[in-house]
Amino acid sequence: MSQEPQSTEHNLRHDGRVLLLSFYAALRSLKLYPLENATVQKALDDLLAAGQQLLGPEEVVELRVSGDFLFVNDTRLRLELDNYASFSQVLGLLRTFEVGTLGIHKGIERREWQALLSVFLSLGTRDTAGSRFEELQARLHRADIHHLHLEPLTAVEEEDSAEAREVAKRTYSQGVAVTKDVVNSVRMGRTANLKKVKRAVQLVVDQVLNNETSIVGLTTIRDYDEYTFTHSVNVCIFSVALGKKLGLGKLQLYDLGLAALLHDIGKARISLDILNKTSGLDEDEWKVMTRHPWFGTLTLFSSRRYEETPYRAILVAHEHHMKTDLTGYPKAIRPRTLGLYSRLVSVADGFDAATTRRSYQTVPIQPDVVLREMWDNPNRGYDRLLVKALINLIGIYPVGTCVILDTLEVGLVAAANPDPSVLNRPQVRIVIDADGAVRPPPGDLVDLSDGDGRGGYARSIVKVTDPARYGLVVGDYFV
Ligand SMILES: [Fe+2]
Ligand SMILES: [Fe+2]
Repeated sequence: MSQEPQSTEHNLRHDGRVLLLSFYAALRSLKLYPLENATVQKALDDLLAAGQQLLGPEEVVELRVSGDFLFVNDTRLRLELDNYASFSQVLGLLRTFEVGTLGIHKGIERREWQALLSVFLSLGTRDTAGSRFEELQARLHRADIHHLHLEPLTAVEEEDSAEAREVAKRTYSQGVAVTKDVVNSVRMGRTANLKKVKRAVQLVVDQVLNNETSIVGLTTIRDYDEYTFTHSVNVCIFSVALGKKLGLGKLQLYDLGLAALLHDIGKARISLDILNKTSGLDEDEWKVMTRHPWFGTLTLFSSRRYEETPYRAILVAHEHHMKTDLTGYPKAIRPRTLGLYSRLVSVADGFDAATTRRSYQTVPIQPDVVLREMWDNPNRGYDRLLVKALINLIGIYPVGTCVILDTLEVGLVAAANPDPSVLNRPQVRIVIDADGAVRPPPGDLVDLSDGDGRGGYARSIVKVTDPARYGLVVGDYFV
């Protein structure tokens, strides 16, 4: 009996996902084909069935938007890779129309779903004088819909997402604070209190595990001056998220997170003059710098006397610059295979180091360039499989990203390039042409890996921009 609430939640989650997928599939097919088309008809049948399945014996079931999440009644739908597109696009659509709740009532008819989708599609491209929500409501009323009801997005729901961001921020600051503490103790020759560090790492892991989108929020909180500390926290976050993606369990993630947070602890034994130098390091200084893995190993070893330091953290501190081909530092005396955690942390480390603004690197390199280099250049010595996992995690240009092209056109990213060697060249819908004219949806689909016939590319991304600047509603172009 005690199993019941859990299994109800499980069913809601499952049926909610099915509804989301079929809603999006029906919306897409209705946008592409006329109503009488068999694909559309099948999609509507599926949607009707999914709605009924989700309702079960209940009178009403509600799909709610809260912050960056979708709920079915009180159960949050989990964002997973296979439902990412439908999830984010349905969420985007509801937000565009300021819909906070979509209620589905017992007795819902196929006709009503169809009407709802048609209203969404017909309103999608149009500018309305009043609020989009009110216009939507008025249309639904006219369409004689009784088994679907809408409620507007409220300030409370917006607050929820603000709160989630607050929690993420607190976790981040705590990570920075404990790292600072440990580094300072080591600098003063004291033994680090790893208990606090472990607690901070657990918070990060719990955040990553419970809150799929928080990782995005957390990694954007990077505009701190204190590179040494924020770098460690970022590497911890990226490593844990990567580890999660590879299927590591919670306890393994705690270990990995700790190892990642402490990977550069050896730098606490290097003089600040060298660490904070804004110009390049001379040969002697560089030699000192390359000792930090070894210093880290010693530091963590000595802390073992007082407390249990996982063996893996020591290994990661020692191996994280060795490179998979062992051409890095410190030099390996005999052939060895780097531990999984070491390879993982070095990928996270390389990515963060290159994309963050530092004292001697005033302009951060764009993530796509960094990932490309990590992927392409074997001399960098990263585990390519893990680089690929990182690319999947971060997505160089996630679907929906608004980009300015070198042709002066503006586009929306529609899909990643299936060829991993040209990940920085996604497929893009042109939404504004070179003369500044807005193209009606769906916009021409172009492949940025297409050549210009002279050995170059026909179009390349110049920069990422905010679609709102161009008055674009990304949801309008979802097909
Ligand atoms: Fe390092
Ligand atoms: Fe590092």
